Amino acid sequence: MILQLHSYWAYLALGLLLLSVIIFKIGWFFNKKFTVKEQRLALFTLIVFHIQLLLGLVWYFMSPAYQSLKALGMGAAIKNPEIRQLAIEHPLMMLIAITLVTIGFSKHKKKTTDRSKYLTLIWFYGMALLLVLAGIPWHYWFE
Ligand code: HEM
Ligand code: HEM
Repeated sequence: MILQLHSYWAYLALGLLLLSVIIFKIGWFFNKKFTVKEQRLALFTLIVFHIQLLLGLVWYFMSPAYQSLKALGMGAAIKNPEIRQLAIEHPLMMLIAITLVTIGFSKHKKKTTDRSKYLTLIWFYGMALLLVLAGIPWHYWFE
């Protein structure tokens, strides 16, 4: 149940992050105003990512991957690519990605010009997007 939620919510998270980066790039490139719409997009993306984090954390401690990690110990678990990916690499990369989104959101609020708001969001959300793309266990996603 939690895993299914985490898997479905991931579509929303990935979609919103992609949309954010595209919209903010367009805004920056064409010198558009940073309106309440862009602000809401950035905020919704942040909230959706925090919920993804919450679902991920809850699932993590129930997951077979974490049980194997506990049973085998770090040294042996790290030698098994499947356990390593699900119990270590994926959670760690996503944790960093979510932190980037949170920092980016927090920093953009303090910027005073529209262009610097766009630029801050493009950098932080963009780096998060790369990490998310690299860290999703594509092979397991509704396989
Ligand atoms: C594991 C769970 C979570 C952690 C560790 C976490 C962490 C954080 C942190 C560190 C901030 C501060 C950002 C800043 O400096 O401005 C923040 C802000 C926020 N989080 Fe979360 N969060 C979690 C879950 C959630 C959930 C479940 C929601 C929504 C349902 C949520 C919604 C928000 C919102 C709306 C903000 C404020 C954004 C603003 O500054 O306007 N978070 N969170
Ligand atoms: C941007 C954030 C995240 C995204 C987009 C994401 C996405 C996904 C996807 C697509 C899967 C494959 C699910 C499936 O089998 O259908 C997955 C699995 C998993 N995720 Fe995440 N995730 C995120 C964050 C996290 C975090 C923060 C944690 C833990 C702290 C976590 C823990 C896990 C675990 C343990 C699995 C393995 C599921 C299994 O037991 O097969 N995820 N995630």
